[in-house]
Amino acid sequence: MSEKVIEVVESSGVVRLTISRPKALNALNSAVLTELERLLCELEQRNDLRAVLITGAGEKSFVAGADITEMKDKTPEEARAFASQALRTIKRLETLPVPVVALVNGFCLGGGCELALACDWAVASDNAVFGQPEVLLGVIPGFGGTQRLPRRVGPAMALDLVTTGRKIDAQEALRIGLVNRVMPQAELEAYADELTKQLAGNGPQAVRASKQAVHDGMEQELDSALALETALFAFCFAGEEQKEGMSAFVEKRKPNF
Ligand code: CAA
Repeated sequence: MSEKVIEVVESSGVVRLTISRPKALNALNSAVLTELERLLCELEQRNDLRAVLITGAGEKSFVAGADITEMKDKTPEEARAFASQALRTIKRLETLPVPVVALVNGFCLGGGCELALACDWAVASDNAVFGQPEVLLGVIPGFGGTQRLPRRVGPAMALDLVTTGRKIDAQEALRIGLVNRVMPQAELEAYADELTKQLAGNGPQAVRASKQAVHDGMEQELDSALALETALFAFCFAGEEQKEGMSAFVEKRKPNF
């Protein structure tokens, strides 16, 4: 039987994907990317989905990068195909219509950092280690790092990390805006549970529209982005969710979304 490289657990519309290659610190090989893309193709069709959480198996590593053993002997054409597969898969994760949370427990390096950069939320354990160490291997980031990292932390810090290959700890990752929260490792799971419950408990159409407004708006100049916000704001008033949310406020009760 082939190795199960991604575990899927679901509860109340929240899907948890666990990349599971602990012996290789959950490094991304073709098998993981193929399975991840297959799962994401299914998830992007689901109207009942509320949030997705992605993590790595074990307490040592989120994802320690692309699989170096698999990449070592690739030709330029094979390297291009591998990067294209990863870019396509990571883009699918980024453009899921619901919030995606990266739960980073330990090493988050190279392709792992690039995966986390495509998530809406990143929550890290206090022992997490981040970096783009590709130059130490004689290559550059190939899963989106040279483009998403400067957009997240600014070009100066991105160039610092990408050209030195240095590793940073969770506190520095928090300071530069690479992650949203740092938690003691023992409290990481409880916090992730609380966060995903909070995301899943809010108005689902409003949460989706929020993500769409931010993501699509960032690609546009300000006036058209603001027009997009207005259109989505108005669209919210076309559904039951706004009626329930605002009635609940007026009636001093919790909304039932
Ligand atoms: N690919 C394949 N295998 C990996 C791996 C990776 N990225 N990272 C770790 N492993 C494997 C190790 O080879 C080792 O396997 P064996 O037990 O069979 O020897 C196992 O995982 C455990 O690793 P270590 O013994 O090295 O554990 P450590 O605690 O001493 O060190 C580490 C941990 C600092 C993360 C170290 O493993 C390391 O530096 N890994 C590579 C990190 C890296 O360079 N990532 C970037 C990859 S390139 C990339 O991602 C390109 C891109 O943009 C697409």
